[in-house]
Amino acid sequence: MDYKQAYEKLERYGQQHVLNYYEELTQQQQQALLEQIETSDFENLKYCKDNTTNRRGKITSLAAMQLEQIEKEREHYTAIGLETIRQGKVAAVLLAGGMGTRLGFEEPKGMYNIGITKEVYIFQRLIENMLDVVRQADAWIHLFVMTSDKNHEMTMEFFEEKDYFGYKKEYVHFFVQDMVPASDYNGKVYMEEKWKIATSPNGNGGWFSSMYKEGLLGMIKKAGIEWLNVFAVDNVLQRIADPCFVGATISNGCVAGAKVVKKVSPDERVGALCLEDGRPSIVEYYELTDEMKEAKDEQGQPAYNFGVILNYLFKESMLEKIVDGQLPLHIVEKKIPYLDEQGNYVEPDEPNGYKYETLVLDMIHQVDNCLPYEVERSREFAPIKNATGIDSVESARELCRLNGIEL
Ligand code: UTP
Repeated sequence: MDYKQAYEKLERYGQQHVLNYYEELTQQQQQALLEQIETSDFENLKYCKDNTTNRRGKITSLAAMQLEQIEKEREHYTAIGLETIRQGKVAAVLLAGGMGTRLGFEEPKGMYNIGITKEVYIFQRLIENMLDVVRQADAWIHLFVMTSDKNHEMTMEFFEEKDYFGYKKEYVHFFVQDMVPASDYNGKVYMEEKWKIATSPNGNGGWFSSMYKEGLLGMIKKAGIEWLNVFAVDNVLQRIADPCFVGATISNGCVAGAKVVKKVSPDERVGALCLEDGRPSIVEYYELTDEMKEAKDEQGQPAYNFGVILNYLFKESMLEKIVDGQLPLHIVEKKIPYLDEQGNYVEPDEPNGYKYETLVLDMIHQVDNCLPYEVERSREFAPIKNATGIDSVESARELCRLNGIEL
């Protein structure tokens, strides 16, 4: 793309300021900027004032498969799951492309050491959990790790340095998610350098299309993988490629499953699995009306009582069908480092604009059915979002201690 073409593209989106410093740049920097303009998608920025992509349908409740019921079938489900794993049909996808801004840790979140008397990294905890299943099934499980441009090198080097925490290297596959421009409140993109538009990862909803773009589908097919268990980096207790969960989903004829926990209160900040216009969906805690908060299920329990923990199982063939489907856009207020009018680099203390993301939870609405599968929160839900307080390093350490994990 030459200067004129770049200018024309920017003009269509009202972003001509991106070329303000062009004359000052070296030839190499000019080239880098033109390339970035060519590959950037500015389409989303027009939604900054009017987030029209998120209209909701009619929400109704969806009963979860609860602990008691799972316990009765545990052996049966586990046997199905283990067999499926042994056949190489289950793979795991670790979403590690986030910026982890709330934790305030400069390096990738998975590199955070939650250990007290010894080193226990977040990545290590996840790998240890996977190794339990590898031992139980006596079979290796492919692990795909999604990173972003911002943390790819560091993540890969860390796994190398730590010798994959005992996991088999040939079964770990890294891929990079796409980046999208970040803007001010008027939808004007910020510049990070005079030759670089400020970008952020495009949200965790892009994982399958990024795998697709990187050509991993061929490998998936060749390996005979049929199920993908996608999970967040920050829950250090979650069971991954959990045989019982896999077996329960298959046994119930579902094409997707979602691990859920009983909410502590209707206001707890987790999304609840529900139906939207008869299809599975997730209703956010702030979308629950008073009527929904008071609604009861057949057992007299709150009807929207099961929150998702970002651990989903998807039938891979279903995802191929929806790869081009448009996921709703989430416009999130964030702190975005930028160049001010004088060209000085500023790291804001307060949010100063928007990032544009799609979310994995919206993929649930694209599939025909989804099994809400309850897990005990004290045993499987220890997310690390913050340094202290709720969902923090402190609370996760306490939960690890309760589960006999030495730190
Ligand atoms: P969060 O919503 O907690 O976002 O991600 P985050 O960026 O990690 O943290 P904050 O909000 O800045 O503090 C949930 C999961 O989705 C992954 C994260 O790595 C985490 O596993 N994620 C998030 C991605 O892989 N890519 C993204 O673009 C965003």
